[in-house]
Amino acid sequence: MQTGLFITFEGLDGTGKSTQLTSAAQYLRQRGHRVLVTREPGGTRTGERIRDILLASKTGKLAPLAELALMYAARAQLLEEIVRPALARGEVVVSDRYNTASFAYQGYGRELGTAVVRAFDRVICGKTQPDLTIILDLDPEIALGRARGRDARRRSRHDRFEQQSPAFHQRVRAGYMALARSVPGRIKLVRADQSIKDVQCEVRALIDQLLARAGEQH
Ligand code: TYD
Repeated sequence: MQTGLFITFEGLDGTGKSTQLTSAAQYLRQRGHRVLVTREPGGTRTGERIRDILLASKTGKLAPLAELALMYAARAQLLEEIVRPALARGEVVVSDRYNTASFAYQGYGRELGTAVVRAFDRVICGKTQPDLTIILDLDPEIALGRARGRDARRRSRHDRFEQQSPAFHQRVRAGYMALARSVPGRIKLVRADQSIKDVQCEVRALIDQLLARAGEQH
């Protein structure tokens, strides 16, 4: 049985996801929760190997369905090894991306459509759905510019997704917006063109609401 809480962060690269996720995890710990932080694709040994295939530029062109299946393969491993056991222990799991990314990137970005993604999702995630999904929303040009600046500072190469066309990133953003509109109770958009502090405030308010709701149920 799932007794913990599952919070996922989403958004294009360069929207400040990692900064906000780290601060949210710290906030939850301050409030007395046991927090487990993870990321996708990856988060397990097998998942990190799959991540290498998915992100390395030398992989070249992947069939969109192969890409989707690899995302869900890594996710299946993460669920079994990490997420479900932590939720069963009553912890708060905070993940840097989860299934909403597959709907946005593969469903909308790669134009596979949401029905195909949902088919994988039913089998692999099933009932293990996030309690709260926070999407950091930013114009793709600004987000990508930031992500590329970060890569340059770290001397890392742009990954397969950062190399995609502006149109691809626009579709992903539009996908995230559509998903937030279709599940407004769980998927929340936060504007990422504000100061780090202001974004942090909005994120904390969403977490407070979730904790209040969860408290009422117990
Ligand atoms: P991420 O770890 O956020 O990249 P970075 O470390 O550069 O911030 O995610 C890697 C990429 O994988 C990202 O561009 C989005 C993509 N992705 C999908 O296309 N589908 C998915 O289901 C997931 C989880 C990620």
